[in-house]
Amino acid sequence: KRGWIKIYINMLYKNLETTLSEGIITIEISREAKLNALNGATLDEIKDVIDRLSQNSELKAAIITGAGSKAFVAGADISEFQELNETDAHKFSVRGQAIFSLIENCHKPIIAVVNGFALGGGCELAMACHIRVASEEAKFGQPEVNLGIIPGYGGTQRLTQLVGKGRSLELMMTGNMIDSHQAFQMGLVNHVAKDKLEALAKARTLLQRIMAKAPLAIGGVIACANAVFNQNADGYQMEAAAFANACKTEDFKEGSNAFIEKRKPNFRGT
Ligand code: COA
Repeated sequence: KRGWIKIYINMLYKNLETTLSEGIITIEISREAKLNALNGATLDEIKDVIDRLSQNSELKAAIITGAGSKAFVAGADISEFQELNETDAHKFSVRGQAIFSLIENCHKPIIAVVNGFALGGGCELAMACHIRVASEEAKFGQPEVNLGIIPGYGGTQRLTQLVGKGRSLELMMTGNMIDSHQAFQMGLVNHVAKDKLEALAKARTLLQRIMAKAPLAIGGVIACANAVFNQNADGYQMEAAAFANACKTEDFKEGSNAFIEKRKPNFRGT
């Protein structure tokens, strides 16, 4: 059945290569000749695969990475937004923001494996994921000002959330690129690995650890951490409600019994 899902999902996409193994779907953005730049079709496919991740119980977690070793994603596809008028440019930004929000708010864990250039929309895509693991070759930047524009897929918000206003403004105003070690020092990435293979292995280890926990509790911490940055949500109220919900679950009974019985819990997501 798993093999069937893999073939089925792969058939749906032109710009993504997906592989499914042990519940983890690896989504590789595969427009290597264009440094995996995000055109509209690729964004639609990302939305589709994230919807499937949210809804399909066979899919438990995801890794997003870029094809090859040069780029994660070198930005939104510049050739597609060069000629936009104001109304369409606004739609372009809102649509990208909405798709990246789906990633950020997905109740299943999503890790970006940043294997090369993560510029503009690429850096924004990585920042929308829950955790980032970079390879030594990774480079990060928001170079939009070089083109006379600004980040439009949530970058002004998420970069500021992740690294603080001073560092965020410096990156966005200079358009400077930073390497993975600088990104690590400022909290933009969680881990730096030697190369793409090691970064993928690190992401998989992290996901396996997360997937051994109660899935509803994982969804709860994602939602509550996101609430910190949502001015319309009271994060403390949300936390209390999510805590109360978690206390009602079968998994809490299982987790607390397993602790008392000194055994590993077997969580079912109920
Ligand atoms: N949109 C569309 N095409 C892109 C792209 C993007 N964001 N980034 C790279 N490409 C394309 C190039 O046009 C080129 O296509 P071609 O071979 O048909 O001419 C191909 O990818 C390879 O890129 P190239 O620039 O030749 O590689 P490089 O090694 O010389 O430089 C970068 C690499 C990442 C520094 C450079 O491609 C770059 O600056 N890209 C744009 C980054 C950016 O501004 N992103 C934010 C957009 S808002």
